Amino acid sequence: MSAAAAIITLLLIAAVSPAHALGGSSSTIAVIYGSATVCGIVAEQTTRRIQCWRNDQLIEISPAISFDYIAGGRDNFCGVKSGGSALLCWDSNFISKRIYNSSSVLLQHLTFGDNQICALTNVSGSVRCWRDSISAQFPSGSEQFRSISSGLGFSCGVSMISNRVSCWGTNSTLASNIQSQFVNESMLDIAVGGNHACGLNLTGFLICKGINDSGQLNIPSNSAFEYSGLALGADHTCATRKSNGSVVCWGGHGMFSSNVTEGVFFDSIVAGLNFTCGLTTRNFSILCWGPGWPNNSFSGFVLSLPKILPGPCESTCDCASNNSPPSRSSTIRRQGSRALTMRRQRSGTSSKHADKAEELSFSDLVAATNNFSLENKIGAGSFGVVYRGKLWDGRDVAIKRGETGLKMKKFQEKESAFESELAFLSRLHHKHLVKLVGYCEEGDERLLVYEYMKNGALYDHLHDKNNVEKSSSILNSWKMRIKIALDASRGIEYLHNYAVPPIIHRDIKSSNILLDSNWVARVSDFGLSLMGPEYDRDFRPMKAAGTVGYIDPEYYGLNVLTTKSDVYGLGVVLLELLTGKRAIFKSDGSENGGAPTSVVDFAVPAIMAGEMGKILDKRVGPLEVHEAEAVELVGYVAMHCVNLEGKDRPNMADIVANLERALDLCDDSHGSISSGQISIASE
Ligand SMILES: *[C@@H]1O[C@H](CO)[C@@H](O)[C@H](O)[C@H]1NC(C)=O
Ligand SMILES: *[C@@H]1O[C@H](CO)[C@@H](O)[C@H](O)[C@H]1NC(C)=O
Ligand SMILES: *[C@@H]1O[C@H](CO)[C@@H](O)[C@H](O)[C@H]1NC(C)=O
Ligand SMILES: *[C@@H]1O[C@H](CO)[C@@H](O)[C@H](O)[C@H]1NC(C)=O
Ligand SMILES: *[C@@H]1O[C@H](CO)[C@@H](O)[C@H](O)[C@H]1NC(C)=O
Ligand SMILES: *[C@@H]1O[C@H](CO)[C@@H](O)[C@H](O)[C@H]1NC(C)=O
Ligand SMILES: *[C@@H]1O[C@H](CO)[C@@H](O)[C@H](O)[C@H]1NC(C)=O
Ligand SMILES: *[C@@H]1O[C@H](CO)[C@@H](O)[C@H](O)[C@H]1NC(C)=O
Ligand SMILES: *[C@@H]1O[C@H](CO)[C@@H](O)[C@H](O)[C@H]1NC(C)=O
Ligand SMILES: *[C@@H]1O[C@H](CO)[C@@H](O)[C@H](O)[C@H]1NC(C)=O
Ligand SMILES: *[C@@H]1O[C@H](CO)[C@@H](O)[C@H](O)[C@H]1NC(C)=O
Ligand SMILES: *[C@@H]1O[C@H](CO)[C@@H](O)[C@H](O)[C@H]1NC(C)=O
Repeated sequence: MSAAAAIITLLLIAAVSPAHALGGSSSTIAVIYGSATVCGIVAEQTTRRIQCWRNDQLIEISPAISFDYIAGGRDNFCGVKSGGSALLCWDSNFISKRIYNSSSVLLQHLTFGDNQICALTNVSGSVRCWRDSISAQFPSGSEQFRSISSGLGFSCGVSMISNRVSCWGTNSTLASNIQSQFVNESMLDIAVGGNHACGLNLTGFLICKGINDSGQLNIPSNSAFEYSGLALGADHTCATRKSNGSVVCWGGHGMFSSNVTEGVFFDSIVAGLNFTCGLTTRNFSILCWGPGWPNNSFSGFVLSLPKILPGPCESTCDCASNNSPPSRSSTIRRQGSRALTMRRQRSGTSSKHADKAEELSFSDLVAATNNFSLENKIGAGSFGVVYRGKLWDGRDVAIKRGETGLKMKKFQEKESAFESELAFLSRLHHKHLVKLVGYCEEGDERLLVYEYMKNGALYDHLHDKNNVEKSSSILNSWKMRIKIALDASRGIEYLHNYAVPPIIHRDIKSSNILLDSNWVARVSDFGLSLMGPEYDRDFRPMKAAGTVGYIDPEYYGLNVLTTKSDVYGLGVVLLELLTGKRAIFKSDGSENGGAPTSVVDFAVPAIMAGEMGKILDKRVGPLEVHEAEAVELVGYVAMHCVNLEGKDRPNMADIVANLERALDLCDDSHGSISSGQISIASE
């Protein structure tokens, strides 16, 4: 069996795991709506502790230990301790109380209605609830759920076996009314609000049932897997779009569709009774809006909380994998291949849009960089030194200046690098490639001007000692790391499969993967790019290029360069993301001593032996039960990418497809069949 076939098989196994609830309940943010208090699990800290905001005051929550999820109700909020062994709740004065503690039955999912707290456990879909007199209201103890959610006076769950909705609670009239409206629906998950409930059905359409007095059931548009996150309030519904994280709200007498959320993208959203808050992806701040938010409902309000962790990489797959609907896996198989075809066609058209780069004068660039001052220097690439600058019109840019002066011997090579990069980049237009804004060619000066990537290079976040304990912990989440891997892979896939002619990057490494202000990863530095071959034909450049630790052994040995050389470099980057180690590192961890070890030799034997836990980056914290599958899939992809022979490595389309699966496992596993559905809808 070829590597590509092996990897596709892997993908299908991963894709079969069923769904869990929408983002509303297992979240890193919580709203205590009675007092307009918002809490979040703080990023940028080694301990994932909680901080709250109330009336412009920041409150440090103790105990300052790590949490996985938090959820809030009218007056209280609760958090599941990292690992799932304990549940703590805080009252309106932030006094904590431990209400659950067990190292044998772990909590995996948390939902907090008005006054009822429920969690799923790692014992196949069983539910534990606290507060309201549960025994009376909770359905038979044998019921197993893949998703649960609590609202005002009632809760609902989706059965793991039948995919049917059951509801219970103090308002039994409402609960049974809503349950009966869902009676003919087969659901993946459920989210509950004041007097209505919404969820995705098995084919990914959003279904809302219940009372419609404010238009809360009036879903504006509905295609398969259009939505990924839901937040339901007393009489309104908000949802984030899976494609881009934009938010749309309905109901609430139309008072939630606000221009403050325009152009803002969200990782997750949560609702109070009459307002909604969301975690923005632009800088991981929390934005709240809606008529019930104190002060001004329409302008929205950015809380002064520090950066908040993006939602956990989650899926309750462990609870449900034995009971998933029998027909699903074959459906997925057919749809999977269709998705690939469609994606190719869609992206193919984007190569026609070629933005022309502007010609800039040298004096403009001198002005932009304070005469190339040292303070503006941000690095060195294949072509020369890189400076940060601000153009006269205020645009932030990165300016690469080719070395000038006496280095005539190298001139020829530099010049061809300049021209090749210029020629390529002005034709390339893709959201995962760093965009060329302009260039300058005056006398001996050769400069390239790129969009400035605010969050720097992946390498610095993973390996720069100064960064380890601070801002890079935005990257201390498996979901973020997998997303970065996927973004970069899409950029490379574009170079290989959609650029005309195809382009081999030749220097894929973590310092060439940059992060923009939204933490979207983009591939940079095409200085070493050469015209690629026709698909899959060998290519022999003049001399070897690349960076030690990332060079394809086949290229190094035989001087054969193919798209598979980039795949090898990407494999090394994936291993860096998983292990936190440099491509080549000192084995004893010290700066000077120890034998240099390659991350490939370090990681691959452990991945092969199924002992990935041993090599994972400790800074991301212990691997949660539900993250294991996603991270494992990335490990297998990486292992295949660094196979010694190019023919045994997967191609970029396979890699992208597998990383999409991995991210879907993090996001919401129902999404793992989403692209297939969308592609069918668009045919
Ligand atoms: C209301 O506005 C005041 C003054 O701008 C501010 O201090 C306070 O935090 C705001 N409260 C809320 C809940 O937005
Ligand atoms: C939690 O449970 C463990 C045993 O499972 C016990 O050792 C520990 O003392 C308990 N902690 C608290 C605070 O109850
Ligand atoms: C739940 O997790 C605990 C701790 O990891 C483990 O001992 C137990 O076997 C798990 N239960 C199930 C049913 O997987
Ligand atoms: C469910 O389906 C049955 C049989 O088709 C039908 O009689 C009933 O009205 C449906 N219920 C709802 C709430 O749609
Ligand atoms: C149950 O919910 C409905 C709809 O929100 C409401 O009209 C009714 O008063 C509630 N009943 C109780 C007992 O809370
Ligand atoms: C999901 O809902 C859509 C729209 O109502 C419907 O066309 C589709 O048949 C439903 N799928 C299932 C599995 O019920
Ligand atoms: C909900 O109410 C709106 C009007 O507010 C109406 O247009 C829509 O059809 C209703 N939807 C349902 C499912 O009853
Ligand atoms: C948003 O809408 C309100 C009223 O509809 C308007 O006053 C305000 O200027 C708008 N804000 C922006 C930034 O467009
Ligand atoms: C987000 O994607 C949806 C389609 O999925 C599109 O209608 C909308 O315009 C997009 N919004 C932005 C701001 O890009
Ligand atoms: C995030 O961006 C918003 C809008 O640009 C700004 O008001 C806020 O202060 C920023 N927050 C952080 C934590 O950087
Ligand atoms: C929003 O709900 C709160 C209760 O949580 C209530 O006090 C407030 O009056 C409501 N505001 C609006 C505008 O409905
Ligand atoms: C910029 O610096 C160079 C030497 O580094 C100097 O020769 C030149 O005059 C400076 N130009 C300006 C405009 O300050």
